[in-house]
Amino acid sequence: MIQAPKGTYDVLPPDAERRRVLESHASRILGAAGFRRIETPVFEATDLFARGVGEATDIVQKEMYTFDDGGGRSLTLRPEGTAPVCRAYIEHGMHKQPQPVKLWYLSSFFRAEAPQRGRYRQFWQVGAETIGSASPAVDAELIVLLAELLDAMGVKGTRLRLASLGTPETRAEYRRELTDYLRAHESELAAEVRDRIELNPMRAFDSGDPGTQRVMSGAPKLLDRLEADDASHFAQVQELLDRAELAYELDPTLVRGLDYYTRTLFEFTSDALGAQSGVGGGGRYDRLIDQLGGQPTPAGGWAAGVERILLAGAEQPIAADPVDVLVTVSDREDRAAAITAFEVSRRARIAGLAAQLELTGRSLKSALKHADRISARYVAIVNDERTASLKNMDSGEQVEVGSDAVIATILRGSRLV
Ligand code: HAM
Repeated sequence: MIQAPKGTYDVLPPDAERRRVLESHASRILGAAGFRRIETPVFEATDLFARGVGEATDIVQKEMYTFDDGGGRSLTLRPEGTAPVCRAYIEHGMHKQPQPVKLWYLSSFFRAEAPQRGRYRQFWQVGAETIGSASPAVDAELIVLLAELLDAMGVKGTRLRLASLGTPETRAEYRRELTDYLRAHESELAAEVRDRIELNPMRAFDSGDPGTQRVMSGAPKLLDRLEADDASHFAQVQELLDRAELAYELDPTLVRGLDYYTRTLFEFTSDALGAQSGVGGGGRYDRLIDQLGGQPTPAGGWAAGVERILLAGAEQPIAADPVDVLVTVSDREDRAAAITAFEVSRRARIAGLAAQLELTGRSLKSALKHADRISARYVAIVNDERTASLKNMDSGEQVEVGSDAVIATILRGSRLV
């Protein structure tokens, strides 16, 4: 038997219904704030992610599905949505539109990660990007909107962690300071931290080793090293979040796996998830558009994992799709009646009814049973080209009507005409 590839899964109808609910909440919440939908291609030039996400990141180093398009061009299945949206912003001259440009997406992404609960190789993200404003209100608005979406989906046990990265220059200087500090305490650090001092000194903050944790409690923090205008920007973001009464924790050790971030950085986690607790996150990326060849343009955004929202979200009661009428025939051998039944169901749908045609050749008795199972309100039993019996499944009442009067009778019963 051929199975779906490792790390992928099928979205079956009940799950598809929960996704539809998520999509409609996202559309309502983001639409009200002026975001419009965008859809970019599933694959892009590899260079977009190498330059956008960052050569040194895990995503670019080992998680991309990259292939030759047969003409010597290197393409990559999109591992994230921010670089593509910025590429589209530049390519379509969106800087000429009123700023900021607010875009949202609900799309699939691809990363060659080790699959586990909440981590897949093809996964979906809902994301929002605000391009063309440096205002701290952009950052706060984005965070508040994601909180609202998670709330609407009933995501339980969320925590919001917040930090500011300042500029890449501040960060480079801080990195040197931290590296020196770690070297000075080398003997007290866990071996795996010691081996990674040069490569990624920030990781030392995440270590579970008690000796390392002791050292890190006295380590310099990036938040204390921000330039005055970055610090003031961050203070304003916090003030707006306080006003919105959205609780957050300042976390100077917050790190995210993408290189484009500047200034505000945030992540929502949920206790309802296991090891993969990040539901969604993002931040500002003021240098990315410039880096991709556009005019320097400040921007910010977030993305949240659809699977993780659904894993951590409330089980929402899914109402079965209503069926107004099941159309069947009294004599399975009667071809003329079968054609009439086909036509009755087709015209019923044009008239706005949810109409299903009995398609399996069930006997009348089992068609009625089936109608009960799918909660059909009526069963139309076509007797011949001209006549039909219409059974109201609620009252059990049955009336004889012309086959061309079936639809009007149902509509009258529903007080629609
Ligand atoms: P990210 O943190 O890499 O950010 O991904 C955002 C969210 O996507 C994560 O919080 C997680 O819920 C979900 N996610 C990531 N990888 C997987 C996976 N393998 N399986 C299932 N879910 C996953 C970004 O992608 C940035 N583009 C966010 C952003 C937008 N920053 C600014 N604008």
